[in-house]
Amino acid sequence: MDDFEIISNSRALSASLPIVRMSEPVFDGKDLDEGVYLGNTKIYGMPFLLNTGKLVNPHIAAVGMSGSGKTFLLKSLISSYVIDLGYNAIALDWSGEYADLFRSLGGKVWKVGRGSGIGLVGMYCRNPVRLCAEMEWILTDLYGLDGADVREVKDVIGMPRRGPISLDGIIDGLRSFGSGGVNTAAKLGAAERGCILPGGSGFRLNRVFDGACTVDLSGIASGSERVAAGKLLVNAISDAMHSRSISDRTDTLLVLDEAWKLCDHRALNELLRESRKYGISVVLATQQAMDMNAEALSNIGCCFVFKLNRMDGGSAEFSERIGSNIEAAGNLGRGSCIVSMARRDSEARDNFILARVI
Ligand SMILES: Nc1ncnc2c1ncn2[C@@H]1O[C@H](COP(=O)(O)OP(=O)(O)OP(=O)(O)O)[C@@H](O)[C@H]1O
Ligand SMILES: [Mg+2]
Repeated sequence: MDDFEIISNSRALSASLPIVRMSEPVFDGKDLDEGVYLGNTKIYGMPFLLNTGKLVNPHIAAVGMSGSGKTFLLKSLISSYVIDLGYNAIALDWSGEYADLFRSLGGKVWKVGRGSGIGLVGMYCRNPVRLCAEMEWILTDLYGLDGADVREVKDVIGMPRRGPISLDGIIDGLRSFGSGGVNTAAKLGAAERGCILPGGSGFRLNRVFDGACTVDLSGIASGSERVAAGKLLVNAISDAMHSRSISDRTDTLLVLDEAWKLCDHRALNELLRESRKYGISVVLATQQAMDMNAEALSNIGCCFVFKLNRMDGGSAEFSERIGSNIEAAGNLGRGSCIVSMARRDSEARDNFILARVI
């Protein structure tokens, strides 16, 4: 007993207490069928299989500094879920990192950029209200058209017509408005050379939940257009999600790497709030703990915390929310992470270190 007290008073031991206190999940044979293997726990070397069915919410976040291993984890999740559990997977790819993986999985790769756009008009041609809403911010924020121009575009979209609306149809309609319309048509013609309005990439809204597919945005030269395309795609995926039937069974991963680009986008929080009901697990990766706002965090069932920058201003708050000791994350090596899971059947979170993601 004396010895124990001496040890427990040691500074070295108390410094490592947060790790000692962490609970490693007990291996459960059921996870072999329902989970995916991601590596072994650090202390007891137990295999860890992530089973999203056991989580309060199937959404997953990976946080860590550049090079810490987030994308590696996301790729591992995608291949395991698609191959082992037959999931659908859709990924937004900002820098062309996922194309090879999706090709090797026999999935679709939609490449946007250099003359092939996401086809905003075609995407929403049967939903003029949605098309007007999306056009409004794209034309003003991205392509610099003014309020009067945008009103004219909306007027054309609202005009009765026989067939579905097209970009050429909008430009023709504008020209029929006289000189002001011709002017707006010229501006829209210039915007058409971007990567948002015209089609060409093969992106199909009705096929995003059909097998494995990734939208590769790396060919879009302009950073702001790339982010706008990403936001539009998140909106589109959210729309497509609402046409799915409600399901208790998760069968789809929606992977959003570098999610800090989307953090101010309302549709992201909506997806985190609603997609569980539609069988979708959202998988996010971001570099800084402070990128994750309280609402987003509250909907994450499993958080993988990789090495964090000690200057990460969100750390203390983040640590409190996920109930894990973020100090420990400063010492992690590449590919190693703290796993913090909120399980349905337990009030306490599971917090443990995964030695290396496989
Ligand atoms: N668990 C791992 N096992 C082996 N190699 C790994 C592991 N995790 C990461 N790596 C390697 O480390 C490098 C950086 O990893 P990764 O691309 O996943 O970093 P990241 O966290 O996504 O960084 P960024 O924020 O800059 O995108 C890659 O070459 C990757 O292959
Ligand atoms: Mg990455």
